Amino acid sequence: SAGREARSERTLAIIKPDGLFGNHMDAVKKIILESGFRILKEKIIQLDEESAASFYAEHSARSFFPSLVQYMTSGPVLVMVLGKDDAVSSWRTLIGPTDASKAKITHPQSIRAMCGTDAEKNCVHGSDSPQSAQREISFFFHSMPSGVQAIEHDEL
Ligand code: PPS
Repeated sequence: SAGREARSERTLAIIKPDGLFGNHMDAVKKIILESGFRILKEKIIQLDEESAASFYAEHSARSFFPSLVQYMTSGPVLVMVLGKDDAVSSWRTLIGPTDASKAKITHPQSIRAMCGTDAEKNCVHGSDSPQSAQREISFFFHSMPSGVQAIEHDEL
């Protein structure tokens, strides 16, 4: 056909420690479902430093890297595989800009504006490309790193 076909894709979403501590899990999942995503897989985990550093390896040279790793190990996170046409870009649009303090001004309807604080405590993660999504989904769901501890929902 001549038109551009909608791509059915998967992306990796994370509700970060500030999102869970702040009790934003249900609100974020409601937005996800109302926006037409399917939650294909989900689990709550506790990252250790090694696994968080490995997940964010591409940012290891950045000045914020040690702080980011500390933050992402500060409490449990909810990791999800989301499915939708154009899931990667659709989820990135929905979450808004990295810095939640700026998102509150420029993208007030975004998830980060709603439940984040700044560039570190920004409530949610989204894969930045289909290639990243594939890597990140494998990281959490196909090759569970030894330092990642699965925890039951009622332990929260
Ligand atoms: S980049 O490369 O500058 O565009 O980085 P960006 O995509 O904006 O951010 C990559 C991830 O690093 C986190 N980040 C930070 N953490 C702590 N402190 C500061 N200052 C900071 N800046 C960016 C940011 O939340 C991104 O995490 P994810 O989970 O990928 O959204």
